[in-house]
Parts: sequence; C-alpha cells; structure tokens
Amino acid sequence: MEPGTLTIVGTGIQLVGHLTLAAQAWIKEADKVLFAVADPVTAKWLQTLNTIVEPLPYNTNNQRRRQTYQEMVECILAAVRQGGNICVVFYGHPGVFSDPAHEAIKQARQEGFHAQMLPGISAEDCLFADLGVDPGRNGCQSFEATDFLIRRRRFDPTSVLILWQLAMVGNLGFFKEDAPSPGLTILAEVLGQHYGFKHEVIIYEAATYYPVCQPLIKPLPLSQLPKAKVSEISTLYVPPQAPATLDYEMMARLGISL
Ligand SMILES: C[S@@+](CC[C@H](N)C(=O)[O-])C[C@H]1O[C@@H](n2cnc3c(N)ncnc32)[C@H](O)[C@@H]1O
Repeated sequence: MEPGTLTIVGTGIQLVGHLTLAAQAWIKEADKVLFAVADPVTAKWLQTLNTIVEPLPYNTNNQRRRQTYQEMVECILAAVRQGGNICVVFYGHPGVFSDPAHEAIKQARQEGFHAQMLPGISAEDCLFADLGVDPGRNGCQSFEATDFLIRRRRFDPTSVLILWQLAMVGNLGFFKEDAPSPGLTILAEVLGQHYGFKHEVIIYEAATYYPVCQPLIKPLPLSQLPKAKVSEISTLYVPPQAPATLDYEMMARLGISL
C-alpha cells in the first residue's frame, strides 16, 4: 500500500447537484472514503461512486460534541496511517464550521502525510443566493451562535450578521428535537439591545433535496425568536439595521466623491 494521503471534500448542501467535479473525482479514485453527511440519501449515493465507503463514528452519547469530533479525527488518522488515498467527505464546505476536518488536516501534516482540503458550497453560499444578499454591499459577519454570546463578539449592526447553529445556542452536546431552547431567549435579548425587538430577522434553511423541496425562509421580529421552531440546519440571518454613515474626511483623503 502506498503511503497515506488525506483529501477532505464537501458535498455542498443540495443532494448531488452541489458536488464539484474535483470532489467527485477524488471520491471516485480514493482507496477508501469516510463520510459524515447530514442526510441518508447522500450517504447512500456516495456508495455509487466508490465501493469502500464507511461512515465516520458519530457518538451522540458523549457529553460534548468536541469529544465526538475528536473520535472522528482519530478514525481519519488511523485510516491515513494504514496507507492509500483516503478521501473524507463532509457536507457543505468541509472547512466551514467543521472542526474535525481542520484538525484532521493539521494532525496528518504534523505526522508527515500529504493532506489537502477542497472547497465546497456552504449553507452561507446558499443563503446569499436564496435571500438575495450580496456580502459586498454591506459587509458580512458570520459567527457560531453560542460563540457570539459567550465571547461577546463585537459586531456592526449596519452590516449583515449571520449566526450559525441556531438550534444549539448554549448546548455543547447534541440536538434534541422539541427540547426547550432557553438560549434563543438570551440570543433574542442580546440582539434586541442592538437592533430593537421589532427588527425583522430570518430563520433560514437551504433546501437539501432541491427541486423537490424549497428553502425555508421564515421572517419574524426578534421579539418572536424565543418561541420560533428551529432545527439542526437553521441559520439566523440578521439584516443591517440602517445604512452605515459615510466618513467624508476619509473620502476626501482617498480623493473620491459620491
Ligand atoms: C456543523 S455546521 C456545518 C456547516 C457546513 N459545513 C456548511 O458548509 O454549510 C452546521 C450548521 O450549518 C448551518 N446549516 C447546515 N445546513 C444548512 C441548511 N440546509 N440551511 C441553512 N443552514 C444550514 C446551520 O447553521 C447548522 O447549524
């Protein structure tokens, strides 16, 4: 067996249609494919591309997600050490809100293996398309929702704010359907201080099985966020509160005018 190599690719968000040709080629040619994807159809479909396809362990009995992620990394590294071209498939962009992917690349390189990540289409890319948001217009700030609160992230309310893992605010474990989510109340309270509680936000879920399903785009005032129904794939879009003011002195220094 040849020395191990590691290539981490993403499926994108929509079944089949978002996979890049490069990612597909790496999956097809790999000696072994490991995967952690969000839906069973994609998992099944991967088996049509390669005969040696195995799920990464995803132990939801751990207290913390980070323990589960560490177990994934150990599984990836064990495969790379055995040799051959190992392709690991995550959903979306494999490097966006995906600790185990970055950690596996880092550890593989530290151990002297060739390791690379290929970009994919993330949920944020879908949001830009579905909600008609151009990050070039007002700028764009993206945070993990719990991290946003516990680190008191500084942000600009005149710019777009995107908060990921909305259903997991204050939860370092695993998502449980219909479990109370006190974190949403706290998040709404913090955002309300900056935007006002009437500010309209959007709970967004890109369509996984497009065109059979459509994206979920649920506008609501911040005051209703605590009672909103959210799922593992919900992302919060907070539009700018008001346009940013222009710095005329800076414009003069740069020699530009409106
Ligand atoms: C662990 S992250 C994985 C992100 C993924 N790697 C990507 O590139 O989009 C999970 C979070 O991504 C966002 N997400 C995943 N799927 C989504 C979808 N279909 N629509 C909107 N947001 C999604 C949600 O915020 C979810 O809590």
